[in-house]
Amino acid sequence: MDDWIDYYDSTHTIYASKLHRDLHFQVIARDIIGYITSPDAVVLDYACGEALSAAKVADACGKLYLAEPAPGVRGRLIARFAPNTKIRVRSLDDLRKMEETSIDLVVMNSVAQYMTAAELDSAFAVVRRLLKPSGRLVLGDILRPEVGMGKDVLALLKFAGRHGFLKDAVYGLASTALSDYRQLRSRVGLQRYGEDEMIAKLAAAGFSASRTHVNIGHNPWRMTFVARHALEIGRR
Ligand SMILES: C[S@@+](CC[C@H](N)C(=O)[O-])C[C@H]1O[C@@H](n2cnc3c(N)ncnc32)[C@H](O)[C@@H]1O
Repeated sequence: MDDWIDYYDSTHTIYASKLHRDLHFQVIARDIIGYITSPDAVVLDYACGEALSAAKVADACGKLYLAEPAPGVRGRLIARFAPNTKIRVRSLDDLRKMEETSIDLVVMNSVAQYMTAAELDSAFAVVRRLLKPSGRLVLGDILRPEVGMGKDVLALLKFAGRHGFLKDAVYGLASTALSDYRQLRSRVGLQRYGEDEMIAKLAAAGFSASRTHVNIGHNPWRMTFVARHALEIGRR
């Protein structure tokens, strides 16, 4: 296993149980829907993973593009959502060929930590080209330099406690600790950014951004940012 895309394409144990996986995607879908401001909105979920609740997001917007780099995951997305005429599945390369200024909302949740800093800059450039002048990028689940793995464990246990899968979560954490995840986390690592650092990185990519009060998903120790074309802010 070379990188995080291979990991997410494998039969990994990042979700402790079916209930955990289903709840995870329900929460993400609910939070994405919270950022949709029009029933006609064109939405792009960048590196969406299994996106099990994407049909709910599609119900709340005009069109939903699910973009995913892992080919096995993408194959499942195509099969799962084939009957849904509002959903289109794309590779990350496909995004470079899409029409510019065609998207209202891009969500990139729990993805930046798996990219190198340079990969994230390229992704920002692709997203900026795709966003309408009034469009927004929501960048969620950013790890901060000062917050360690202990808080990830605590956030999962709290989420599990609230939803009745604590035993599975403890078992899942133990198997994750012995798995490829642990090896990749120590060998390849996860990228972390401070709040100002991420705002500066987005500014360098042509965005004006601020941090939101609440993170997308279940982990309150991680950060979410909302970014717009920098020029558009000046014109308002
Ligand atoms: C934790 S999952 C997040 C999935 C979904 N966005 C969510 O919130 O549940 C991480 C995603 O990042 C993708 N990924 C991993 N490494 C990547 C890279 N270097 N560039 C782009 N995407 C990557 C994986 O394929 C996977 O879909």
